[in-house]
Amino acid sequence: ESPSTDTNDKLQKICTLLDQEIPYFNWTGFYFKHPERQELILGPYVGAETDHTVIPYGRGICGQVAVSSQTFVVPDVHAQDNYLSCSIDTKAEIVVPIIKDGENIGQIDIDSHSLDPFTEEDREMLEWLCDKLSVIL
Ligand code: SME
Repeated sequence: ESPSTDTNDKLQKICTLLDQEIPYFNWTGFYFKHPERQELILGPYVGAETDHTVIPYGRGICGQVAVSSQTFVVPDVHAQDNYLSCSIDTKAEIVVPIIKDGENIGQIDIDSHSLDPFTEEDREMLEWLCDKLSVIL
């Protein structure tokens, strides 16, 4: 379900902060599950405009995380068959689910213009963030 305006403002600020602080985070955004349809809906983001404002479960990296509820680190997007390209500049991607009360409600999605840029610390930081965020969502 889409977060409130106030919550969206906070999510927007988080995107801006991550985008500013980590040079290889080149598109940072949130997707949330639609309350009825088996789809992810684009939430706040920073980066190039994307055609993928609605993603069916199972499609692309994001859609796979909607189903698996597991962090998905993709060092090289071109090595993935089930991938939705947002920008020709994107080389890598990480998607971390947001779990609230045991339920997968959405995710943070980060694209990078660098190949294999994401560290174990990035993963841990994003998982920590999603865990904290679940409280306000
Ligand atoms: N690449 C994603 C689609 C979302 S854009 O990266 C913003 C995917 O394969 O699900």
